[in-house]
Amino acid sequence: MRTGGFAQWTRRFEEERERRRARGEPDWARGATLHPAVWAGIQRFQIGEDGDGANLVGKADAAGDGDYARAVRLFVAEEQHHARLLARLLAAGGVPTLTGHWSDAVFVRLRRLMGLRMELLVLMIAEVVALRYYRALRDGSHDALTSDVAGRILSDEQRHVPFHCERLHASLMDLPRTTRRPVMALWQLLLLVVSLVVAADHGAALRRLGIGRPRFVSDVMASSGTVVSAVLAPLPDAWTSTAAERQPTASRTRRQGEGGG
Ligand SMILES: [Fe+2]
Ligand SMILES: [Fe+2]
Repeated sequence: MRTGGFAQWTRRFEEERERRRARGEPDWARGATLHPAVWAGIQRFQIGEDGDGANLVGKADAAGDGDYARAVRLFVAEEQHHARLLARLLAAGGVPTLTGHWSDAVFVRLRRLMGLRMELLVLMIAEVVALRYYRALRDGSHDALTSDVAGRILSDEQRHVPFHCERLHASLMDLPRTTRRPVMALWQLLLLVVSLVVAADHGAALRRLGIGRPRFVSDVMASSGTVVSAVLAPLPDAWTSTAAERQPTASRTRRQGEGGG
């Protein structure tokens, strides 16, 4: 009720669903060849994408904004689509999906204890880390099918981050003004810890994809500034300028007209 702008997001998610249908599937038949370390990373990210989202949907329903609840369902469907794409990519390379990692189970249990605001802050950490990872996978895998899949997922993730920012902005407005900045500073600190863990965990894969651990962490942290400002004080064109600047020209032209709504 507070924001009212989420009908726009629903529309955007629906438009993307249509575009996806029209575009069709990646060319799975061409197969994929990657270094084992890169495959191992994809296996882990595949599990991360594969939540049922019931948790988040329940909290969104409870928040009492019907438009937001509808947009969240479309968001969850898109993440499930990512899990499916990555599973198909693994299959195209003859690599099995994993059944689950203890850290994901812990993560899911933790999230169940949280309210919507906290849930979105945690989810946003995963999204911001994912942005850098999928960009590395798209640009550094030297495999056409993998680049295609990673590029598709990346362009969705680039929409997810501003979507969560908009809802988090509304959520943070419920907090006393003096606590908002410290909350986001803590969020950045947590993001730093998570990106260090991911860099340590996926170091070999990242190197194969052409980026070292320090660069991965510093790029993630650099992109967090845009998130913090969008949550604290949204600007209408925050995403068209900064997010697009970091993309190579090929993908920049694709979605520019859509940002900043
Ligand atoms: Fe995703
Ligand atoms: Fe996402």
